Amino acid sequence: MISLKKFYLNKQKLKNRICIAPMCQYSANNGNPSEWHYFHLKKLMQAGSGLLIIESTAISKEGMISKKDLSLCNKKNFLEFKKLIEYLRKISDTKIGVQLSHSGRKGSSTLPWIKPNFPLKKNVGWKTIAPSRIPSTLAIKNFLIFLSLF
Ligand SMILES: Cc1cc2nc3c(=O)[nH]c(=O)nc-3n(C[C@H](O)[C@H](O)[C@H](O)COP(=O)(O)O)c2cc1C
Repeated sequence: MISLKKFYLNKQKLKNRICIAPMCQYSANNGNPSEWHYFHLKKLMQAGSGLLIIESTAISKEGMISKKDLSLCNKKNFLEFKKLIEYLRKISDTKIGVQLSHSGRKGSSTLPWIKPNFPLKKNVGWKTIAPSRIPSTLAIKNFLIFLSLF
């Protein structure tokens, strides 16, 4: 079966063509992986796929969907993420990817199990940054900032 044959993604050799899609867990603490991430991703590493893509991970605070997203916005986030990857790499040879993301207008939302696709109240939420039909210097500046963060 072709899906079980090895596959090269650039220089990365995947042991098969099965890829686990990114799945938001809304369980991070200040953008850092929680105990849940260790448990959940360990199970997925044991599943035998060629590639596992870690959930949508914001590259800026404004780009988070909810307050419980994973993020790579500060040094602590990077250190904690590295710790998680080192742990996962010991479990199996499944290759690990990450979905770097910017939520745009989907950001500043309540947790889906509280109220799905619903904006946070103004006093606890933040201003989202997304493309607009109206061209502005600020929009271009924001775009360039986020591009550099990626
Ligand atoms: C619990 C859950 C979380 C998800 N989180 C993400 C995510 O972080 N990023 C993303 O691009 N898609 C996310 N998705 C969408 C999945 O990655 C996938 O694209 C979707 O389930 C369709 O896949 P399928 O066609 O194989 O069913 C999520 C889906 C589920 C069920």
